[in-house]
Amino acid sequence: MEFEALIRERFSVRSFKPDKVAKEAIDTILAAGHVAPTGCNIQPQRILVLQSEESMARLRTCTKCHFGAPCAMLICHNKEESWKRPYDGALASPVDAAIVTTHMMLAAHNIGVGSCWVMHFDPAAMREAFAIPEGFEPTALLVLGYPAEDAVPKHYHNETRPMDEVVFYEHF
Ligand SMILES: Cc1cc2nc3c(=O)[nH]c(=O)nc-3n(C[C@H](O)[C@H](O)[C@H](O)COP(=O)(O)O)c2cc1C
Repeated sequence: MEFEALIRERFSVRSFKPDKVAKEAIDTILAAGHVAPTGCNIQPQRILVLQSEESMARLRTCTKCHFGAPCAMLICHNKEESWKRPYDGALASPVDAAIVTTHMMLAAHNIGVGSCWVMHFDPAAMREAFAIPEGFEPTALLVLGYPAEDAVPKHYHNETRPMDEVVFYEHF
């Protein structure tokens, strides 16, 4: 897709067909995440791909925002590996994980796979359900699948704040 159309037409899909996501599509989405920029190129992200009936059932116990999706990716970051800002110790790794997730979300839309970024999950439950090791933080859940016929954007999808409320120019 052309970039402008891609970023304007993508929306959070919350209604999916039951069909599994094709392996080639999953590979394409993961490849887009793989080339995302990260602080100092450390690549502290770790991505858990879930598609079996058993894993999806387990996932549903960790979040109400699963929307019956047939596939999901849990994007975690390794705090120990992260680039750390020397002034205040701020970590790049949660930002890195978010950029990886954004790449994958857009790549999914580009090939007709719908997604919804989900933060509303119980991290402790997620950690237990999928045996996530210490030091790895689950940052984002991307639920994925082919959009159902009735999948539509929420009414506020196109409500953007006025540009001058979010952008500030220096005085030239
Ligand atoms: C960091 C982040 C967390 C989000 N968490 C959730 C969530 O837990 N549940 C949900 O239904 N949508 C979630 N969303 C989707 C947003 O609600 C959605 O992107 C926003 O309302 C704009 O709508 P659009 O994606 O259709 O453009 C999240 C999005 C982001 C970027």
